[in-house]
Amino acid sequence: MNTKKEIEEQKEYLNKVKEVNKEKSPKYTILTMGCQLNENDSEKICGMLEKMGYIKTQKQDEADLAIFNTCCVRENAEDKLFGKLGELKKLKEQKGIIIAIGGCMMQEKHIVDKIKTSYPFVDIVFGTHTLHKFPEDLYKSIQEKRKIEDIMDIDGEIYEGLPIKRDSNIKASVTIMNGCNNFCSYCIVPYVRGRERSRSPKEIIKEIRELAKDGYKEITLLGQNVNSYLRVEKEKNIQFEEYEGVNSFATLLIAINKIDGIERIRFVSPHPKDFTDDVIDAIAKCDKVCKLVHLPLQSGNTKVLKEMNRKYTKEQYLNLVEKMKNKIPNLTLSTDIIVGFPGETDEEFEDTLDVVRKVKFEQVYMFIYSRRVGTPGDKMENQVPDDIKHVRFNKLKALVESQIEENNKKYIGTVQKVLVEGESKNNKDLLTGRTDSNKVVIFEGSKDLINQSINLEIVSEHMWYLKGKIKYDRK
Ligand code: 5AD
Ligand code: SF4
Repeated sequence: MNTKKEIEEQKEYLNKVKEVNKEKSPKYTILTMGCQLNENDSEKICGMLEKMGYIKTQKQDEADLAIFNTCCVRENAEDKLFGKLGELKKLKEQKGIIIAIGGCMMQEKHIVDKIKTSYPFVDIVFGTHTLHKFPEDLYKSIQEKRKIEDIMDIDGEIYEGLPIKRDSNIKASVTIMNGCNNFCSYCIVPYVRGRERSRSPKEIIKEIRELAKDGYKEITLLGQNVNSYLRVEKEKNIQFEEYEGVNSFATLLIAINKIDGIERIRFVSPHPKDFTDDVIDAIAKCDKVCKLVHLPLQSGNTKVLKEMNRKYTKEQYLNLVEKMKNKIPNLTLSTDIIVGFPGETDEEFEDTLDVVRKVKFEQVYMFIYSRRVGTPGDKMENQVPDDIKHVRFNKLKALVESQIEENNKKYIGTVQKVLVEGESKNNKDLLTGRTDSNKVVIFEGSKDLINQSINLEIVSEHMWYLKGKIKYDRK
């Protein structure tokens, strides 16, 4: 069956569940773990659920249906899921709540086995390749009152036309590709998300045009390896239709840059090895593409990088940063770093600190290496003891925090263009927005500035946010 037909079939199930729910308005809660791709998948689950008559609630104990969209990149997500399932057991016994678990963790056999044996009250288990079948799974669970396990171990397809209920009406995520072919030796993603495949240029442009029409101002393009968009298709001679000149990641940025109404374009995550000159040039010349680039480092040591299968050296990474800084005015960088990869010595870890000192990242996402069953890293014998990992993590954290403080000071007295997102969470009298470099800015202003871009003068810095004051009239 082709993907269009499958989606048509799911629409029928969607209507069937809606019929079951007629005059009931059941409630659902959803807990999403992990990355923005998972959050985007959850928005699709919410879209399907709301079309089936469900209403979202934040309160777990008033829900008729609880969904977990899981992540398996690090071990702590597993602890979180099993803790939550313990809590839900009571609700299952008291009021027969339906429990569904989906996402990356469900692509791991040992986890699904554990759920079946230790948490047999879970009703639906679905994987990353069967998200679009959620209406069918839910219908069968309700009508046939049996456990549903819907997991496929395949490379996966792209399904277009799923309903979506977005979390924000200002910023939207758009998935441009699924899967990963890189097999970094610490990472589980290629095993649970399948091989790289790109969405068609036409579908992406169409979606972003619609978003612009609906008033969205900021778009984040998502994928495990965004800057290799359409590369596999070209290498393998898989046919795709070029649309508005889009045949690569660089040309995609250029095409989106032309869409009226969209003011900001971000993307995560690119891979340093695929950061070709055309992409750097596109970032430099497209005024809407934010000049904050996320460039995952993982380690600053060439030997560790080789063991990680990252395909670049410390010098190549630093040279790339230099080249980007020269070509892209006002460039800022963020990164991901793993400490304590198997075999990493104190000396090798110093190289990571060295790169952090040199590059001066705007933001660093720091992770302690977590063994993932089925990855080459898990089989390596020279695992770093936990206490050493923590010492290194704290050292890195102290360096990063000292740099953030120093970096924040540079903003004071400057004028920043800020996209206003809403009221500040901690003080409803203030507004909050973000700079091009994704820094949170809090300021006093009237509510009609929400969803507008305005110029703010930065007056003070507070580690995780800046304070601003309205400088000029609206743009
Ligand atoms: N342990 C720790 N961090 C990991 N990441 C991926 N796999 C692991 C792991 N096994 C981090 C990487 C990646 C980010 C999304 O998560 O830094 O870029
Ligand atoms: Fe994981 Fe590496 Fe693929 Fe990123 S590029 S998803 S870290 S395997």
